[in-house]
Parts: sequence; structure tokens; C-alpha cells
Amino acid sequence: MTQAHLARESNAMHPDGKQLSGGEPHNPYVVVDGILEKRGYDRSELIGVLQDIQDIYRYLPEDLLTYVAIALRMKPATVFGVATFYTQFSFEPKGKYVVRVCDGTACHVKNSEAIHTAIRKRLKLTENKYTTPDRLFTVEIVRCLGACSIAPAMVINEQVHPKLTPEAAGLIVDALLEREMSELAANGDGEGTSEAAATEEAVL
Ligand code: FES
Repeated sequence: MTQAHLARESNAMHPDGKQLSGGEPHNPYVVVDGILEKRGYDRSELIGVLQDIQDIYRYLPEDLLTYVAIALRMKPATVFGVATFYTQFSFEPKGKYVVRVCDGTACHVKNSEAIHTAIRKRLKLTENKYTTPDRLFTVEIVRCLGACSIAPAMVINEQVHPKLTPEAAGLIVDALLEREMSELAANGDGEGTSEAAATEEAVL
């Protein structure tokens, strides 16, 4: 048994803190094993491995980075160093919807700050908070999305929203909240529906 497998057996913990029994498909260590296998346990694939983990969990849980280091026989400090060097990686859990409001020059002169403020206010994000408590939204500022001709712009996940006003940005957020509510209701998730309702109430 490898060191990595020993670590997995002794600490099969979900990144959210939920204890998991070994071998469950959603055990994060099993998931990471699959990623490492797909990438041939190749150290030169480290960035790809980290991207794959972040794609699944929307951030890089520290215990999984340690696990990757052990599995690739690398120093944890090296793996953490790579993860912290690239701004694409996050150590904080992000929301289902990552809202990136552009504040590059072209967007800034067209009032992007007011758009950013309106979205944060709509989601009741307090100072130094970027993600809503239910992890539905993360709001970030970026420098130029490369879409200056349609400024002011923002991107939510992969979707670009052009020529925004603060009011339009608020409506887009509202529509996403409503979509979440409908999906949860359609899935018959009573608990989730009430959570979503609470979220919507919280931002009203
Ligand atoms: S400055 Fe906002 S897209 Fe370029």
C-alpha cells in the first residue's frame, strides 16, 4: 500500500468535512486517484491535475493537495507553491455561479464599479466576503475580459453579459436565483427548496 493510499484510508474526509467510507464513488481521494491515473501519475501534469480537481470541487482543498503531493512523490511545499503561483487556483470554496465583473479601463469609465456594487448589494455580501454563505454565488473583479467593445461587461461562468447597467446586472442575478428555485422545486427537493427560498429572501 502506498503512502497516498494510507493517507486516504486514515482520513477519508470530504472537502466539506463530511466523513466518507472508503471506496465510495464520491470519496474525494478516489476521485483524485482517477484524475492522477488519467494523467499517468506524471509530475509534469501537475497543473492539469490541479485544474481537474478545481473543476470538480470549485477550489483546491488543502488535504487533496497533500494527497497529490504524496501520490506524485513530490514535496507538499512544491505542490502548494505551484497552486499559489497561478491566480486561476483558489483555496476558498467558490460559488456555483462565479460572477466576474470587469473593471479594466474601458469598463471602468462606463461605470463598472456601480455594477459591482449593485451585485454585491443584491447578494448581501458584506465587506471581505466574496461568496454567499450557501455557495451559490462568488463575485470577483477582473482586469479586462478582452471584450472592451461591449463594455461594461461581466462573465458568469462561461456566459458573457455585455453593455450592462447596474439594474440589468441585478436582473441577471435575480434570474439565476429563480432558476435555482425552479430546478430545486422540479427535483422535489423540499429541503433544498426551502434553502433556496431562504437565500432568495435573504437577498430581497
Ligand atoms: S476593460 Fe472590460 S472588457 Fe476590456
